[in-house]
Amino acid sequence: MMMTGVRLRGWAMNVAACASPAVDTQPSMSAIPMFKRIVITGGHGFLGQTVTDMFRRREVQTVSLSRREGVDLRDPSAVTHFLKDSKPDCVIHCAAHVGGIGYVREHAVEVFNDNLRMAMGLTEGLANAGVERLVTVMPNCTYPGTKQVFREDEWWDGPLHESVLMYGLPRKVLWGLCWTHAQQGRLKAAHLILPNLYGPGDHFDAIRSHALGALIARIVDAHRQGEDTVEIWGTGRPIREWLFVQDAARAICDFTACASTSDDALAPDNPLFNVGIGEGISIKALAEEIRGAVGWKGAFVFDRTRPDGATKKVLDGKRFCELTGWRPAVTLEAGIERTVEWYVRNLVES
Ligand SMILES: NC(=O)c1ccc[n+]([C@@H]2O[C@H](COP(=O)([O-])OP(=O)(O)OC[C@H]3O[C@@H](n4cnc5c(N)ncnc54)[C@H](OP(=O)(O)O)[C@@H]3O)[C@@H](O)[C@H]2O)c1
Repeated sequence: MMMTGVRLRGWAMNVAACASPAVDTQPSMSAIPMFKRIVITGGHGFLGQTVTDMFRRREVQTVSLSRREGVDLRDPSAVTHFLKDSKPDCVIHCAAHVGGIGYVREHAVEVFNDNLRMAMGLTEGLANAGVERLVTVMPNCTYPGTKQVFREDEWWDGPLHESVLMYGLPRKVLWGLCWTHAQQGRLKAAHLILPNLYGPGDHFDAIRSHALGALIARIVDAHRQGEDTVEIWGTGRPIREWLFVQDAARAICDFTACASTSDDALAPDNPLFNVGIGEGISIKALAEEIRGAVGWKGAFVFDRTRPDGATKKVLDGKRFCELTGWRPAVTLEAGIERTVEWYVRNLVES
């Protein structure tokens, strides 16, 4: 079933014109959005803060919307008031109730309900405040659990993996809500689907961390405590794609820049775009990369009684790369080094 309705041809020329250089973390001048004021939901979260910093470097005014600013996305009237006051040209939705796989399993009801209510609060608030442009970020767990290489046209082609259903399904409902608002002419939205992120500012605690952050924390800890082994759940064979958070933020900023000059980018048919390059790494190889960056000499012990999860999860990002010219600028090796360094300086030594 194909419902993504990606409208590519109409705006390919415009988007190519605002593509940023492939190997530069800085945008080209033409990738600076004409939007003057952008609301970023979750603007102090891991991704949201990096997106905020990048927009500010591009001299775009941003305002965060989250509970830290006293606005709960589950409350449509609070969202409406905030958006009426801040009058943004566009909203970028980076807020979510999210955590590691163990956390979302233990808090399945709260995670499902909160993300659903946030989706409803957001779309209702946008409609009430008359804000018509929205870019959302979605996790790759919104794809069917049976797929290994994720393609936009297959987003609806099967059930989600049950381990992430409580998180992925409300995000798909958000797509549906945007679609219904678009049908009534109130909203133009696009959805950027991201692989696993990592980088400075990531979550490293046992509850919130994803595999890479958790591995860094455990390997650094083993190094400091003089331990010889670190246990890893499963066989170490599953392959995952990792994107440095600043590359993800640049993709979001560049896309928003394109959207500010092309009416078709945030289209009524609610397009999806994969932001990735389809290259993954096994958990074992990832752990070895981190071991090298930390300088630890110990060994990994694989607990094969624990589940592996999906064999492979990578994003086919050809559409997004071809249209925007975006490519990740930071290699996994360099990104891990920067993340380990940040973790040690900010969370261990301090
Ligand atoms: N991290 C990854 O590896 C990854 C990968 C792919 C996609 N993504 C997507 O990127 C987005 C951001 O993820 P993240 O890792 O940056 O998450 P995060 O660090 O946990 O940030 C979440 C943000 O959401 C806000 N928030 C939570 N509940 C809220 C509510 N009820 N009302 C208003 N704001 C609320 C939080 O602020 P307050 O607590 O102050 O409200 C926080 O700023 C999510 O949509 C996620 O699915 C992340």
